Amino acid sequence: MKSRTSPFIVLEGLDGSGTTTQAKLLHSHLEHSGIRSCLTYEPTDGRAGKLIRDILSGKLRSAKTGSKVVLSERTLCLLFAADRLDHTEHIGRERKRGAAIVCDRYILSSLAYQTLDPGISPAWVIEVNAGCAKPDLTILLDVPVPECARRLKSRRGAPTIYEKRAVLEAIDSNYRAMIKPYRKEFGAVVALDGAGTVEAVFERIRESVRSRLGIG
Ligand code: TMP
Repeated sequence: MKSRTSPFIVLEGLDGSGTTTQAKLLHSHLEHSGIRSCLTYEPTDGRAGKLIRDILSGKLRSAKTGSKVVLSERTLCLLFAADRLDHTEHIGRERKRGAAIVCDRYILSSLAYQTLDPGISPAWVIEVNAGCAKPDLTILLDVPVPECARRLKSRRGAPTIYEKRAVLEAIDSNYRAMIKPYRKEFGAVVALDGAGTVEAVFERIRESVRSRLGIG
């Protein structure tokens, strides 16, 4: 069991898998345990992050034609990497202050989503993300695609370009395939059963963080 003063923990999973809910819970749990924690997410609220969100939700329109701006996965991957480099500076500052980092999505998302384009190799995704902070623990929430699709249906707000059943199936299999290359470059990954009640899933996360990092 490792004990770290400012560990960097990432939550990953399909759209609808509950990463945002669980990241918030983990952040509050750490704070209540007396551990300074910084809750963060990608895409960030920085310039690149906002641009990415507007593109994914179809909000960004061409000034010339008024039509939706659609970018290739390759271009998106570079935008995510740029957003992440800025994010890395923020993460570094927080860690220097002694804060644990709880991050909703990170590089494993780029590996799982942007390789939807068969022309994009995991090696290239890893290369463009070189220089980004390395997490201490990445937790992948494993939730069956039909359950994610059901949760997404009942959600408000504009769906992103990835929130379609067939696309979710492809991302799900990418996540599984990318664990190995990701682990080699970016450290420990655990896949946890993300089905069940919010409380039951959080208990699995808490247990994993405690046994792997010695905190919480
Ligand atoms: P979320 O804020 O609901 O998690 O949505 C962010 C979307 O961005 C989600 O569909 C996953 C996608 N994404 C990527 O495609 N690549 C990435 O590197 C990251 C961080 C997110």
